Amino acid sequence: MTVYFKQDEPDTSNRLDGMKQGVLGKSLPRVEGLAKVTGTAPYAAEYPVDNCAEGVLVTSTITRGEVVSIDRTSVLSMPGVIAVVDDEKMSTRAAQGTANEAPMQGPRQVCYWGQPIALVVAETFEQARDAAKHLKVEYREDAAAPLDPHAVEPEEQEDETVHQGDLAHAMAEAPHSVDVTITTKGHASAAMEPHAAIAEWDGDKLTVHASLQMPNYNITELADALDMEEDNIRLISRFVGGGFGSKLGLSEEVVAAALAAKQIERPVRVVQSRQQVFQTVMRRSETTQRLRFAADGEGRLTGFGHEALVSNLPGETFAEPALQSSHFIYGGENRELMLKVARIHLMTAGSVRAPGEAVGMPALESAMDVLAEKVGIDPVELRLRNIPERDPEKDLPFSSHKLAECLKQGAEAFGWQKGVRKPRQRREGEWWIGTGMASASRSHSIAEAKARVTLKADGTALVETDMTDIGTGTYTILAQIAGEMLGLQPDQVLVELGDTRHPRGPGSGGSWGASSIGSAVYIACNAIREELAEKAGTSEDRLELADGRTAAGQTLADLLQGKDISQEGHYEPGAIEDDFTAAGFGAFFAQVRVNHYTGETRVDRMLGAFGFGRVLNASTARSQCIGGITWSIGLALTEALEFDPRDGHLVNCDLAEYHVPVHRDVPDLDVLLVEERDGAASQIQAKGIGELGMCGGAAAIGNAIYNACGARLFDYPMTPDRVLAAMPE
Ligand code: MOS
Repeated sequence: MTVYFKQDEPDTSNRLDGMKQGVLGKSLPRVEGLAKVTGTAPYAAEYPVDNCAEGVLVTSTITRGEVVSIDRTSVLSMPGVIAVVDDEKMSTRAAQGTANEAPMQGPRQVCYWGQPIALVVAETFEQARDAAKHLKVEYREDAAAPLDPHAVEPEEQEDETVHQGDLAHAMAEAPHSVDVTITTKGHASAAMEPHAAIAEWDGDKLTVHASLQMPNYNITELADALDMEEDNIRLISRFVGGGFGSKLGLSEEVVAAALAAKQIERPVRVVQSRQQVFQTVMRRSETTQRLRFAADGEGRLTGFGHEALVSNLPGETFAEPALQSSHFIYGGENRELMLKVARIHLMTAGSVRAPGEAVGMPALESAMDVLAEKVGIDPVELRLRNIPERDPEKDLPFSSHKLAECLKQGAEAFGWQKGVRKPRQRREGEWWIGTGMASASRSHSIAEAKARVTLKADGTALVETDMTDIGTGTYTILAQIAGEMLGLQPDQVLVELGDTRHPRGPGSGGSWGASSIGSAVYIACNAIREELAEKAGTSEDRLELADGRTAAGQTLADLLQGKDISQEGHYEPGAIEDDFTAAGFGAFFAQVRVNHYTGETRVDRMLGAFGFGRVLNASTARSQCIGGITWSIGLALTEALEFDPRDGHLVNCDLAEYHVPVHRDVPDLDVLLVEERDGAASQIQAKGIGELGMCGGAAAIGNAIYNACGARLFDYPMTPDRVLAAMPE
């Protein structure tokens, strides 16, 4: 049976709080943890497949133009080489690394340096790699390939534009105003596991083991790319070594492996090299953001402006949504917001780690620090004074809102010294020491989701969905939700994910995973409870289950009498999406030290306080926050994609040259989970948490740099050269 539930009303029952098992929200270790640390959890490229050939992608060495010919004979006689695959289907947009739909302007068209154009297949990986390097490709090169977003006329994203009141007038009249321009560089998702796929055909049936965030959606993309029926495709993605956006859409290795396996009638594995992942999968757009504020004498905003310039390839639909939280986080009746996209020929821009707020919030929160200084008030107080009662643009209520609590509790826990702040108050030897803070905000998303739950006659349970666990904790939280509802210890619940044979989940992205699929599991379990209650001669709301027994002492096996109960929960967000503005909120506090002579910044300590609805597992939630804060450190200090200005090829395309924070860069991080239930966010009163931890944290570091040494920077990352250049004498 399928139970469909569309959520039009906020849930106010909070019944998961009243269950007897008491496992939800607890710090439970990851159920798949042992398999992962012992190397027995197979990742995409590791599935044992007999007679598997190896494919290596060939990528373009021009920036813009056309592939005129590919000389297969140049490599077919090399040792071990089996085939060269350059099917035109490889260049359909579905094979272009993001969840975008725009068609290429023609087959074999090259839009950026490093774009995959063919696949060489050989007996061994080394043979394939060697041949891929020797494949002769003839191009027709297009002379005009703009690479600088400031050198072209950008397109306005009109649905992001807001003109309310008169901002210029408000700024001219206001006792305090700010007008600053802040830049961020491009970023790589930098997942540990490279993109990989093994494709195998059985007649017209295709099975692909791949590393994917959204098999539920990727199956449609693959069916489109190969022009076949979804029913003939099975995608398996049980363990994923991080996605961070890069595996939301299908990338080229999946389509290429499927085409090659068909052509040579053998299974084919394609693993992208680290350099290829960096160069071809996608980037976060660089941004240039102008922030304008008008404030009264007490720092209350009367005007709020945020304009952002981002970039992408021509025809792509994605535009880094840098203004996302700016629409609602602070008040100010005169508003100007605008997002513009420059069409340039760098690799595709797409969703990378909290698209939007990851770069929008640091810019906004840097500008807020400038405003606090101008007004002469404590920066925490400035935020508190500007939290709106309702969404200032849509005039909607917030689903639930913990920004003020996060600011206050975070300040308290961090030991924030209240008051007007002055830079350069503390020095130890060569090091200036200072503190800074910033708000966190991440708009909440929720998606349709299906999951099947089976309560087995032996009193254990099985949860099945094609939802993924990309390191986030999905396996564990679903065992907890089902355990809580059915009165079982989580180890009595087997969770099977990442297989499109199971009901369609929401995929992992945009932090919607846990709340969406959790709601589907909840609905399925609720239906099972109704059947159990009937068997127990009571009503569902009176049914108390714990450790496999009812309150009256009947075991689940007694009630089931040898028969399984299976229910599919189908959750869909309804009017809750339109009736409320929903977001996770938080606050970051950082202490840094900045070297007076070298400009080097070290983060001494950092704390994040977050409110994101119900906490499903305190450990995995905390872990997500720690990960997010860690990415904040990267964004603030080191991470930047560097493109060659001549041809747009990515220069720093590995983890040695693209600097994600490593252990020595990250101090002990403190995380405060602020209690919240948000019934309008999902049926289980949970919001997203995956991305919130990096939505503003970089500004806490930037603001701390200013407080430490007096260098006010408006360009991320704040590398030593930039800090030194801004350092006052
Ligand atoms: Mo996320 S960047 O939507 O995986």
